[in-house]
Amino acid sequence: MALLPILKYPDPRLHTVAKPVEQVDDRIRTLVADMAETMYAAPGIGLAATQVDVHERVIVIDISEESDDLLVLINPEIYWRSDEREEFEEGCLSVPGTYEKVERAAEIKVRALNEQGEPFEFHADGLLAVCVQHEIDHLDGKVFVEHLSLLKQNRIVTRLRKQQREARRAAEKQKLAV
Ligand code: NI
Repeated sequence: MALLPILKYPDPRLHTVAKPVEQVDDRIRTLVADMAETMYAAPGIGLAATQVDVHERVIVIDISEESDDLLVLINPEIYWRSDEREEFEEGCLSVPGTYEKVERAAEIKVRALNEQGEPFEFHADGLLAVCVQHEIDHLDGKVFVEHLSLLKQNRIVTRLRKQQREARRAAEKQKLAV
């Protein structure tokens, strides 16, 4: 297993639309294991392959309190959404330090393949519904802040660019000191 680097918004690679997985084989299972390790280490409750620069439709989620209930979604599809919508404060491993309210369908029905390539379906509400919709957005090249007003998006981009610049500068300084 390996920790994978997570792309940070506004990296343009986060806007890539992921392709369906054609065959659930050992290559995909290794990707799933690496993504799970990366998500738990972050720590986070969901990670889409897009965020680790792999543009195939694979998601890992674990919203359990003990982080011991991994949900693997391959080629996930939302085939039903409730009319009722709910607002939730979301964050994202690709947008560090940013938490904003996003409105999404309150309940969804999802079909996907598991790690063995077997189809399964489930109904989700609450945090799980939020998480699945957030991660599928990633596979479609969409980061959660793109649900916000342009003004808010611009503020977030400015702040993150500044942070990334400062982090780069600090790293360079450290190099000079050695
Ligand atoms: Ni995210």
